[in-house]
Amino acid sequence: MSDRYLSFVNSPWGRRLAQAVGLPQPLALQRHRSGQAGLVNPVILAGAGRLAESVQRLFSATDTVAATPATLRAPSTVKVQGAVFDATSVTDLPHLDELYAFFHSNAKRLGQHARVVVLGTAPEHCKDLPQAVAQRALEGLVRSLAKELRRAITVQLLYVAPGAEDALDSSLRFFLSRRSAYVSGQVIRLEPPVDSTTAIHWDTPLAGRRALVTGASRGIGLAIAQVLARDGAHVVCVDVPQAQQALQQAADSVNGSALPLDITAPDAAALLQAHVSQYGAFDVVVHNAGITRDKTIAKMTDAAWRSVLAVNLQAPLQLSQALLDHQGLNPGGRIVCVSSISGIAGNLGQSNYATSKAGVIGLVQGLAPRAAVRQVTVNAVAPGFIETQMTAKIPLLIREAGRRMNSLSQGGQPVDVAEAIAWLAHPASGGVNGQVVRVCGQSLLGA
Ligand SMILES: NC(=O)c1ccc[n+]([C@@H]2O[C@H](COP(=O)([O-])OP(=O)(O)OC[C@H]3O[C@@H](n4cnc5c(N)ncnc54)[C@H](O)[C@@H]3O)[C@@H](O)[C@H]2O)c1
Repeated sequence: MSDRYLSFVNSPWGRRLAQAVGLPQPLALQRHRSGQAGLVNPVILAGAGRLAESVQRLFSATDTVAATPATLRAPSTVKVQGAVFDATSVTDLPHLDELYAFFHSNAKRLGQHARVVVLGTAPEHCKDLPQAVAQRALEGLVRSLAKELRRAITVQLLYVAPGAEDALDSSLRFFLSRRSAYVSGQVIRLEPPVDSTTAIHWDTPLAGRRALVTGASRGIGLAIAQVLARDGAHVVCVDVPQAQQALQQAADSVNGSALPLDITAPDAAALLQAHVSQYGAFDVVVHNAGITRDKTIAKMTDAAWRSVLAVNLQAPLQLSQALLDHQGLNPGGRIVCVSSISGIAGNLGQSNYATSKAGVIGLVQGLAPRAAVRQVTVNAVAPGFIETQMTAKIPLLIREAGRRMNSLSQGGQPVDVAEAIAWLAHPASGGVNGQVVRVCGQSLLGA
């Protein structure tokens, strides 16, 4: 679906008109293209915490601009495409001034589409109260910067637990690249990985791995299948038997396999298990299939309530348990669920959908520690307004409001959700577990 306003304000004539009458001017986001360098550069590295070495080894000398204490306050006009501030050295409130000094002096140096990452220690891992308070304060700074830097710049906070220093690479590569174009204002916790990382091929990290994607015949599911296949996975595409033709086309387009299956069928888990017995266990399982049946609760039918819960919540719960209990997932496996910001904020006319998507968050949080024992991670993405057939059904005015009510003033594309899932599915992302990552351009809903 196209966003005509976005195209208009990015045309020469539209830009002039928008400036003249003071209309908002969102920049069309730059997304990752095959063959493009993964990391943005140059990136300014600042802060003097325990993660400096882990960050530095990602970059070659020419890709970085070091910010020493002496240069921290020195404004410079040289533009950079990213900034990493290692704030793990912030042990009390006075140390927060270092972040003020850095961002005060360097905010204007950040080019359009720049990526900013602040690294910290989660309050629950801090040694005393002053440190825990100062580290918690970073959340407010990061979420505010994500709102005010504009120009399609994104800002995140990664809390890195002691012992998780070596688990940082895949997350930095995601958040310092064009792959995370529609993710902003997020707070992510990294823990020591649940599995031992094997040698990583950064261009095709999923080579030799098998992925299952439900609802893969169109929309976000199709984009997920495409991105996981780009990353080297053999993708088994699942959708309802009624969508068989589109499903087969989708599977062919990614050199994968089609598995027509209604995930709510009573024998769905058994059929999936039979597939596993024949072709082998999965390394990545993405519970993407989802439906809406919107009505206010007084007008909602039993069928609308039950079907939404069955597809969006009961099926992911049952299939995940069955796969984990019967060796359907290899060690190092990844389960990624698709929740929604409706599940975080609630939404008028979506009590069934919001219940199901909040339940998905419960599924992630409840299952993650149990799956970790089997060296499997469980995470969710929570998309905001994404341009698909699902959102095309929303009435025009509500759709336009949904698109603009976020810090990037536009809807996301299915590929934005898919890229976030590819990061969570990455073999080097074993330190990301039990997390819910919003892919919503920092939507105002539920923030
Ligand atoms: N589009 C958005 O803005 C948005 C926002 C938040 C969350 N989401 C979530 O993202 C996911 C994908 O959304 P989309 O916009 O691509 O939707 P979509 O309607 O375009 O695609 C959903 C797919 O799921 C399949 N499906 C439905 N029931 C199934 C079942 N019982 N068994 C197997 N497959 C089934 C459908 O046939 C369809 O191909 C959903 O979980 C949705 O709730 C979407």
